Amino acid sequence: MQFDTWKGKATDITADCVVIGTFEDGTLAPDAAAIDRACDGRITRLIKRGDFNCKLAMTFMLSELDGVKSPRVLLVGLGPRADFGRKPWRKATAAALLHVGRTQARSVALALPRPAARDLDDQLFGRATAELAGAALYKINDLKSAKKPKPPMLDTIVVAAAQAAALKKIKEGFAQGVASAAGAVAMRNLANLPGNVCTPSYIAKQFEALAKQHKSITTKVLGLEEIKREKMGCFLAVTQGSDEPPRFVVVEHKHPRAKKAPTVLVGKGITFDTGGISLKDPPAMDEMKFDMSGAAAVLGAFTTIGALNLPLNVVGLVPTCENMPSGRAIKPGDIVTSASGQTVEILNTDAEGRLILCDALHYARRFDPEVVIDMATLTGAIVIALGSHHTGVFANDDALAHDLVKSGVRADDRAWQMPLTEEYGEQLKSNFADFANVAGRDGGSITAAAFLGKFTKGMKWAHMDIAGTSYAGGKEKGSTGRPMALLTDFLVRRAAR
Ligand code: BES
Ligand code: MN
Ligand code: ZN
Repeated sequence: MQFDTWKGKATDITADCVVIGTFEDGTLAPDAAAIDRACDGRITRLIKRGDFNCKLAMTFMLSELDGVKSPRVLLVGLGPRADFGRKPWRKATAAALLHVGRTQARSVALALPRPAARDLDDQLFGRATAELAGAALYKINDLKSAKKPKPPMLDTIVVAAAQAAALKKIKEGFAQGVASAAGAVAMRNLANLPGNVCTPSYIAKQFEALAKQHKSITTKVLGLEEIKREKMGCFLAVTQGSDEPPRFVVVEHKHPRAKKAPTVLVGKGITFDTGGISLKDPPAMDEMKFDMSGAAAVLGAFTTIGALNLPLNVVGLVPTCENMPSGRAIKPGDIVTSASGQTVEILNTDAEGRLILCDALHYARRFDPEVVIDMATLTGAIVIALGSHHTGVFANDDALAHDLVKSGVRADDRAWQMPLTEEYGEQLKSNFADFANVAGRDGGSITAAAFLGKFTKGMKWAHMDIAGTSYAGGKEKGSTGRPMALLTDFLVRRAAR
């Protein structure tokens, strides 16, 4: 996506389409008013006649207006004037870009009012604009046999010029947004694939392909034998019921100007979660193909990091396998030894995510990381707790949790800190092993996090439960690309420190 600026009068913009805003009380934003005057009040008359209600994110395309250079003018509703701010701006911009993306326009000028700077500074404005464009133009990499629709023509976003310092920030943000959007596309494309295509080996191949594109990125892929050598007993226990070979991906981005201690990102990569012997109910089981969304988020993060060549050292760890029932599968009551040496009684084979993650988190120790952050579609309980609006954040370090939550606010990709006190860990008591892998239904997302906490002692660690946010079900079924925007903000801010 290209960046350009316009200045002067909105009527003189030469982009293929100009987007202008109208409020619900029928009044026009300044650039809309200028265009309305040039065409002798056509827009105000259109609204008065009741043909466009100016409700938030409603759109209406006009063509070849008198006195307007651009061949297309897209009206977008901004909702009530008094409520206008960052959220309505996002919704209106997203709707406008979606509409323009379906036309033959190659360039679009955004001539909408901007939210107050304290709500959305120049850098975030540039970044959000590019992220919204990426999301608006996203098409599912579908496997339908019908002829593929043509890719959208739109490739240039034109925003209002600003004074030099502000413009520099907007441009910088836009470049971050383009990279962030590319990361979200990489995540969504991988997560949307079915389990028979997106296998553990397929995931490993995507990381290897990414490493080929960037000098800063290298990968190492461990197969079954190497995973055995690492004594990852919990990960091995999950994969043993499947005919599909497991992979453990180690991906690294290195930058000469970065301080040594890396940020480690860990992603749950269950390519299909049947529940194993503790088999899941059939309804919506197909959605368990999204159980590798954490792994996809790591791929997305490295796509973004590589594109921006961020001055950071980042390590990605992706344990990936299937969770299947079979004659070789683990059974409830089986006891295994994790890479950390701690023993685990597997009371429920459907609590498999924490089993593959605990060995990956232990592997993280060798990097002596500054922080470790894992992302996982870990529990149905987080969906009960937070719905699909907030990602659940758990941490053994409050400053790290706050920093992630802050990035969620800045990126409009919200997260909420959940408690993680000792009591929850105590619920995992087992009569036979060091602890069990489940602790009953109550506080299920927290006891899952507490399980991971047993493997991260002495490291600064946060866990993001993305079960409710990383994909949608029902009619909108598909990967959402969350928490890519949050992560981009988090990493960009780290790189700037
Ligand atoms: N992958 C699931 C979690 C999940 C559930 C994600 C629903 C998205 C939507 C995870 O492996 C799982 O099965 N968790 C169990 C844990 C339970 C057995 C303690 C759950 O949430 O039911
Ligand atoms: Mn499960
Ligand atoms: Zn799972």
